[in-house]
Amino acid sequence: MASTELKRKTAFFFAFAGTILLILLVFPFVEGIVQEYLRVTFNIVISHPEGTATRVSDGPPIDMMTVTAIQLAVNLIHVIKVFLWMMLVIACVRYLGFLVLKAALRRSAQSEIAGLTKTVLSIVIYIVAFFIIFQSQYPNVDLGALFTGSTIIGIVVGLALQDTLGNLFAGIALQADQPFQVGDVVNISNRGTGIVESVSWRGVKIRTFQNKLLIISNAVLGKETIEVAPRDNLNARIVFFNTVYTDSPSRTAQFVREAVRQVDNVSQKIRPIVRIRNLGADGIDWEIKYWCEDYSRYNETDSQIRQRIWYVFKREGIDFAYPTRTVYMQPAPKETDTNEYISSASEQIVRVPIFSPLSEDEIQKLAQASKTKVFAPGETIVRRGAEGNSMFIIVRGAVNVRIPVKESLRTINHLQTNDFFGEMSLLTGEPRSATVIAEEETEVLEIRKKALKPIIEANPELTEAIGEIIQQRRELLNPAISMTDIKIEPDKGLIKSLKNFFGLD
Ligand code: CMP
Repeated sequence: MASTELKRKTAFFFAFAGTILLILLVFPFVEGIVQEYLRVTFNIVISHPEGTATRVSDGPPIDMMTVTAIQLAVNLIHVIKVFLWMMLVIACVRYLGFLVLKAALRRSAQSEIAGLTKTVLSIVIYIVAFFIIFQSQYPNVDLGALFTGSTIIGIVVGLALQDTLGNLFAGIALQADQPFQVGDVVNISNRGTGIVESVSWRGVKIRTFQNKLLIISNAVLGKETIEVAPRDNLNARIVFFNTVYTDSPSRTAQFVREAVRQVDNVSQKIRPIVRIRNLGADGIDWEIKYWCEDYSRYNETDSQIRQRIWYVFKREGIDFAYPTRTVYMQPAPKETDTNEYISSASEQIVRVPIFSPLSEDEIQKLAQASKTKVFAPGETIVRRGAEGNSMFIIVRGAVNVRIPVKESLRTINHLQTNDFFGEMSLLTGEPRSATVIAEEETEVLEIRKKALKPIIEANPELTEAIGEIIQQRRELLNPAISMTDIKIEPDKGLIKSLKNFFGLD
């Protein structure tokens, strides 16, 4: 198709240019014949290039009308020559322009930018060619002076072309800068958003998302603030949503992130970010930042994301925030609530192997004195070196036990549901031997020393069981931990030192 067009244009160009050249070649002969005719008939010689008719010798008198008519006819010949030469130049420029544009298009898709260059260059060539051709036909006329000297022409041309030239120069500046290209999504303040469809020497055409054409002249565009989302770039989008305060932020973030990743047009190269923007009046305000494969489809993608969030929330029992007013009434503590808590905490405590030999009553006492706490992912539950009077049972989630090694924290163990920690300080009275950090959202049951002491007094085998675990854990802490962290009297051993601490000996 393209090569057919090339053939057609080439054939037309050669035919057209050939014809004009032929006419221009024939012209001197025609001029010669005319000159000869004038000399023989009227005894007149036309001086070239001024085209002035002069009588060479005496002859029959000629009236002034005839002389003027002859001069006009000679000038007409010059005008026709200028016209023909210009036609030839225009044909050449257009044909060459077509060839160059074709080559430029093969290398890039910016047809309009290339077209703009072509137009500007062509105009410059036409002006220069006109000057040269005109000067060759009328060497005595100072064309430059004619143009610069004529204020009226200047004003008229200036006024007529004011807008056009403004657009043209703004278009040239736009092309030099190339702030955007065809296919980019642009947002022009107060005017709209859309995809750049074409950039010409007059202005830019933008296809809005309502499928309308926004046409803005280059001069106007030059004064605007333009936000560009380049086509070959991963542009980010932000989508907002909110949830009620009762839903776990860490669960919400996890589900939403997973849902967003699965949406078509969301880039897999960069992980979407789901984060809390604000703790608002009606709930938690969230934002999702994701990167678009094709930015021009962001409306659909945003919508898909919102839809997926709805489904995920429905499945997982998470609620969108709604206008909320919290009225605090102080209810009398309900007997049933406390009982429920004790029975669920007891169930948890029994699941920890070291506590399983305890009697039901002892377990209940521990449960009664315990407290549930929830930690966010990455939150520190106990810090090394701090004082510690309680131990923790992991009800849900997981933690990392970390100690400082060469100025950074190294994980030495990983504890999960039904594991416990914090027993070392509780039983030895020494500062915390390690830092324990929640790996994910983690719920723990905190048991304080006051509640544990009577149980330990009544169950010496519990001290031994815990002592053994402490012994194993200490091996992992060594050699990183200094021996001053847990003091054990050499002749008594660890278990004796624990009993000593609780005053059991
Ligand atoms: P405590 O010293 O009170 O505070 C830090 C807690 O980290 C410590 O009690 C133990 O419960 C726990 N801990 C220390 N070392 C280890 C280990 N090697 N493996 C598992 N847990 C540990």
